[in-house]
Amino acid sequence: MDRTLPFFPEQASTAAGRVDALYYFLIAVSAFFTLLIAVLLVYFAVKYRRRSESERPQPVAGSLKLEIAWTVIPLAISMVMFFWGASLFFALSRPPEGAIEIYAVGKQWMWKFQHVDGQSEINELHVPVGRPVRLTMASEDVIHSFFVPAFRTKTDVLPGRLSTAWFEATRPGRYHLFCAEYCGTKHSGMIGWIVAMDPVEYQTWLGGGAATGSLADAGQKLFQQHACNTCHRPDSLARGPNLEGLFGKPVRLASGQTVTADESYLRESIVAPNAKLVEGFQPLMPTYQGLISEEGILQLIAYIKSLGQPPATQQQVPASGAPSPGRTPATSAPGRATP
Ligand code: CUA
Repeated sequence: MDRTLPFFPEQASTAAGRVDALYYFLIAVSAFFTLLIAVLLVYFAVKYRRRSESERPQPVAGSLKLEIAWTVIPLAISMVMFFWGASLFFALSRPPEGAIEIYAVGKQWMWKFQHVDGQSEINELHVPVGRPVRLTMASEDVIHSFFVPAFRTKTDVLPGRLSTAWFEATRPGRYHLFCAEYCGTKHSGMIGWIVAMDPVEYQTWLGGGAATGSLADAGQKLFQQHACNTCHRPDSLARGPNLEGLFGKPVRLASGQTVTADESYLRESIVAPNAKLVEGFQPLMPTYQGLISEEGILQLIAYIKSLGQPPATQQQVPASGAPSPGRTPATSAPGRATP
């Protein structure tokens, strides 16, 4: 039952059946009315044909019943489409709790994936079957679009912001990954594979990678390289907000607003630190736009997320040992010691 119709891609995610069901409903409604109109057209043409040269048609009087019927029925049908589509849209745009975090960067013309444990892959992504996977995606250059037909998931990947997508593979296999947004000469070559694996095999695969250190470790190195820790620190010398335990928390801004410290906020605070200045800090932090690659920003975000997390939360293993080595320029108004 993987292929309901021969010209449909196979269904290999929890969303696939739901997306297809809505799609079939839309096709069924369209087909029904197309047929109804075509049949009535012929029927009325015959029934009301002109029978003699002298025939004059009767003036047509309105029918309230008919008008109500052709208003209420289409309204009801389109409301079903709306609520069905909206509920599916919400389900597809809200990753479930406890999803595996994977970071992706699209660039001309390849997909690069980073697992939290440090493994990275190009044009291939290994995921376990039966667990939701949440992708946080950035573009290094132009607009790309992450598209896996078998999972019925497609999300634009935009420069200057982070996009998220999620899916849960249901059957082991290799599934096509496409870029679905024209992005230059080799757009058609920006393809790859999603490899859905049995969870046990996936663990083995994860363990088999070169031990390059976790994503958060890489972020910590960057954090120190860029001397972020000289300002983002827990003590009284801090010129930027303490990043320990920041992720996911509300942040009071100098403007009086409150925002949530999510991935997009952290990214913005690295590339445009003064856009959302934290209350109580000076706009001292320089922009890191162009100084840190999108991959580097994702590593920094992974590091900031790991700060203040209890160790051994399943995927975010905080940099072990180092007693609060530093916190990152994530938030807003730090200043940097060295130019
Ligand atoms: Cu990337 Cu098309």
